[in-house]
Amino acid sequence: MSAQAPRRGEWGSQIGFILAAAGSAVGLGNIWRFPYMAGQNGGGAFVLVYLVCVLVIALPVMFLEISLGRATHRNPVGAIRAVAPRSAWRALGYLALLTGLGILSYYSVIAGKVMTYGALYIRKLFIGEAVTYHGATFEVVIYFALFIVLTVLVVSGGVQRGIERWAKILMPMLVLIMVAIIVRCLLLPGAMEGVKWFVTPDFSKITPRVILNAMSQGFFSLSLGMGAMLTYGSYLSKKDSIVVCGTSVVLFDTFIAILAGFMIFPAVFALGGNPAAGSTLIFQVLPKVFGGMKGGVLVAIVFFFLLCVAALTSTVSLLEVVTAYFVDERRWSRRRSVWTIGGAAFVVGLPSAFDMAGLRPWTSMVFLGKHGFLELMDFLWGNLSLAIGSLLLCVFAITVWGLNNAGSEIEIGSPSFSRYRGLWIFFIKWVCPTFIAIILASKLFS
Ligand code: TRP
Repeated sequence: MSAQAPRRGEWGSQIGFILAAAGSAVGLGNIWRFPYMAGQNGGGAFVLVYLVCVLVIALPVMFLEISLGRATHRNPVGAIRAVAPRSAWRALGYLALLTGLGILSYYSVIAGKVMTYGALYIRKLFIGEAVTYHGATFEVVIYFALFIVLTVLVVSGGVQRGIERWAKILMPMLVLIMVAIIVRCLLLPGAMEGVKWFVTPDFSKITPRVILNAMSQGFFSLSLGMGAMLTYGSYLSKKDSIVVCGTSVVLFDTFIAILAGFMIFPAVFALGGNPAAGSTLIFQVLPKVFGGMKGGVLVAIVFFFLLCVAALTSTVSLLEVVTAYFVDERRWSRRRSVWTIGGAAFVVGLPSAFDMAGLRPWTSMVFLGKHGFLELMDFLWGNLSLAIGSLLLCVFAITVWGLNNAGSEIEIGSPSFSRYRGLWIFFIKWVCPTFIAIILASKLFS
C-alpha cells in the first residue's frame, strides 16, 4: 500500500459534512429503534442512561472515528492499514465492513416496511377505507428490494452530490412534521401519563442489560463503531473542525430521538398500547394516531415519506463504507461495487424480510416476533458488533495509532480543543474502553 492517498472526493463545505453525517445518524435508529428500546428497557431509566452514554462514551468515540478518517483519508480497512501496515488490526476493518453489510440488510427491511405504510396510506387516500392489507408478505420483499436499489442509485452517484442537497430541505421538514404530530398527541386525554413515564427515571430498572442496550443504541443512533463516521470524516478537509462537526451531529441526533419519544409514548398511554411491544411498537402506535387525526391520511403520507428519506440517508452511509473499501483498496469501479454489495445485502436480508412479513399474519401486528431473525440480526450487528467495534477502535488508538496523534489531528481545525485534549485522552484511554468492556462482559457472561 503506497503512502499516497488515492484521489477522492471532499465535502463541499463543513456544513456538507454535518448534513451528511447527521443524515447518516438520523434515521430509523431514532424513530423506530429508540422508542422500541426505551419501551422495553424501562422508559425514563433508559432515557437517562442513554443520555449519559451519549455524552460520556459516544461523543469521545465520535471525535476519534472522525479524526482517524480525516488523518488517513481512507475507508476503515485502509485507515488501519495506513497506520499499521500488515498488522492483524486489519481484522477490525473487516469487522466494520461485515457489520455495515449486516445492518444494511435488515435496516432496509424496516425501511421497506415504512414504505409499505406510505403506500397503504396513499391507496387509502385514493380508494378510500376499503383497502385492506392483504399480500403483505410479498409487498415487504418488493419494497425491501426497491429500497436497496434506491440506496445503490444514490451511492453510485458519489456521496456529496446525492446527499448534501436532499438533506438540507428534507431534514427540517421531518422535524416540523414530528413537532406537529407531538402537539396532536399531547392533546390526547391521558397523554401526560406517557410523558411522565418517558421522563421519570425509575432507578431500580437500571440493569446491565438496560445499560448495554442504551450504550449500543447510542452507537447505533450515531452511526458509530463500524467506520461510517470514519469514512465520512475521510472526506473532511483539514480546515474543518472535528469538534464542531461531531458535536453538532450528536446534538441533532439526540434531539430527534427525544422528539420521537415524545411522539410515541404519550400516544401509547393515551390510545392504549404496550410500551414494551418491541420492534413493532411504532407500527402499532402511529396508525392509531393518524386514524384519529383530522387529515391524518395526508400527515401519514408526508411523515412516512420523510421517514423513508431519513432512512435512505442512513443506508447510504452504510453502503458507502463498504463501497469505499472496494473502490479504494480493490480498485473496483464504483458501479460494480455498489451493485455487488447491494445484491449481497438483499440476499442476506431476505430471511429478515420473510421473518417480518411472512411468518405472521398482518392483523396480529406482531410481524417481528420476539426472537425472530430480524431481532437476532439487530442484536448481533446493531448491538454487539458496534460495541465491540468501538471498544477495539479505542484500543487501536491507544496502543497503535497513539492518542497524541489522534489529539493532534482533532486540534487541526479546532485549536481551542487543546484545552480539552487531556480530558478527551483520559476518556478514550480509561473511561470508554473500561465501561464498554465491563458492560459487554456483564451482559455476555450473565
Ligand atoms: N444511525 C442510523 C440510524 O440511527 C443507522 C446507521 C447508519 C448506522 N449508518 C450506521 C448504525 C453505521 C451503525 C453504524 O438510523
